[in-house]
Parts: sequence; C-alpha cells; structure tokens
Amino acid sequence: MTKIRTAILPVAGFGTRFLPASKAVPKELLPIVDRPLLQIIVEEIVAAGIEKIVLVVSEGKEAIRNHFSSSPALEEKLAKKGDAKLLAEIQKISQLAEFSFVTQHEMLGDGHAILQAREQISDENFLVIFGDDLIFGEPTKQLITAFESKNSAIVGLQKVPLSDVHKFGIVALDQHSAIQKFVEKPAPLDAPSELAIVGKYVVPHKIFDILAQNPGASGEIRLIDALTILQKTEPIFGEILAGQRFDCGQKEGWLAANIFALRQDAEIAKILEEN
Ligand code: UTP
Repeated sequence: MTKIRTAILPVAGFGTRFLPASKAVPKELLPIVDRPLLQIIVEEIVAAGIEKIVLVVSEGKEAIRNHFSSSPALEEKLAKKGDAKLLAEIQKISQLAEFSFVTQHEMLGDGHAILQAREQISDENFLVIFGDDLIFGEPTKQLITAFESKNSAIVGLQKVPLSDVHKFGIVALDQHSAIQKFVEKPAPLDAPSELAIVGKYVVPHKIFDILAQNPGASGEIRLIDALTILQKTEPIFGEILAGQRFDCGQKEGWLAANIFALRQDAEIAKILEEN
C-alpha cells in the first residue's frame, strides 16, 4: 500500500454562515489568535506526513493563494529590518508543502470541488479536509493510521450532543467500526447514534470516477453521496477522532476556538483574565 502523501482541501464555499465577516475575507483565513485557521489546519496535516496540498478555491479567494505563496517584498523588508525570527516564520508558510491551487467556478458542492482537483492527483489514495472544521490534536495522523490498518476509506467522526445531531451527517458503526448506516441531519429521535461526520476523510482514488458520474439527488455533487455508492462494493470505516473540535464555519465555533487557543498560552491567557 502506498503512503498517503496528498491532501485536497476544498475551500471554495461562500461562507454564508459567517457573513458579513466572510464577504471579502475568506472565512478560512480568519485568525485563531495570530495564525489563520487554514494555516493551523495545514500545519497539522503536514506534521502527519502530507507533502502535497491541493487547495480548491473560488474566484475572489485569491487571498488564500497569496497566504501560501512566497512574498518577496515583505521578506525583503523583514530582512532589512533584521527581524530574523519573523522572516523565518513568514518564509516557512510557503515551504510547508508543495501547494497547488485549482478554481471551482460554480459552487456545485464539496464533491464537485474535489473533482476539480482530479488532474493534480496521480493514481493514489488521498486525504480530504474541509477548511473550516478545526480539531486541536492529531486528527490527520489518526485518520492515516486507521487507513493503513483497514486499507479502506475512512470517515472522521466525533460524538456530538443529541441536541446537535440535526446539524450533521450521523452514522451507525458495527463492532468492527464499519459504517452501517448514514443519515443526513436527522431529528434526535431518528439519529442512529451521536457520531457525526466532521469533514475529514481518507478516500481511494476511484472516488473520482464515482463523483464524476453522480450529480447527487440535491443537484449538488457531495462526497458523502459518493461514499454511500462506494459502500455498496467495499466497507467504509468510521474513526472517532480525539481532540477538541470547533466548527469555525460560524462565529460561535470560531470564537470558542480562539478562547480555547488563548487559554493554551499562559502569557496571552492573562489578557482573558484582565478583560
Ligand atoms: P460548507 O457548506 O460548510 O461551507 O462546506 P460553505 O458553503 O462555505 O458555508 P456556508 O454553509 O455557506 O456557511 C464544507 C466545505 O466544503 C467547501 C467549503 O469551502 C467548506 O470548506 N465547499 C463547499 C466547496 O469548496 N465548494 C462547494 O461548492 C461547497
């Protein structure tokens, strides 16, 4: 089995739940303390061994491309100022991985976004990470380890309160952690469990063929519909991810992530106590 070395990050969505903040600034670049959310996500997946990252952006999200590209003028200014620490920190961003960018011209769903990256991926299995769901921990390492053990698609899960199941895709697992049932945004009474899909997956390369054939019942092309089709021919496993999770696609989750991150830093945590 070849190593998982590539990730697709669909970050083309409109971010309507975070308007007006996300009107001109992509929600994925809003800061968690002093680093953009997407940089934190990228650093975690690179630490897990990912070498190549394909970012699926939309028109108007050039700031994402700029953030992960080198900035010669800024670097020259920092060098002249003699700020070696900040210079190294800025230079590091574009060197984290081999980045490529593809544009999704129409918002036809997360699966459609993934399909736009097809030409960038050789014949390999790959990681998919949505750019607005943050877990403080090592979720990618956990997903890759699960994939290496099962050699089958892996869906990242976390337990959510029953009162929140209507916001997620909810799955039931069998005793081997294979997904038995999937229900999209169920009412609490219809939920087969409290295990929610949290936007992190390892998928086989053949998922592209399924996505390409599958417009989806909603008119959108969605990864979860393609996985449901894949499951007819091979098992798909759920992996319950450790770590504190925040849905940073909306202001409550983003604010909570900031407070959580602030508390990790003793110096900055003082600001919270003083205000
Ligand atoms: P979401 O539905 O959470 O993101 O999609 P969104 O569409 O940006 O947010 P709202 O609902 O309007 O507030 C999950 C992920 O899939 C990406 C999004 O950028 C997000 O990271 N996505 C979604 C795409 O890249 N393209 C799409 O057509 C849809």
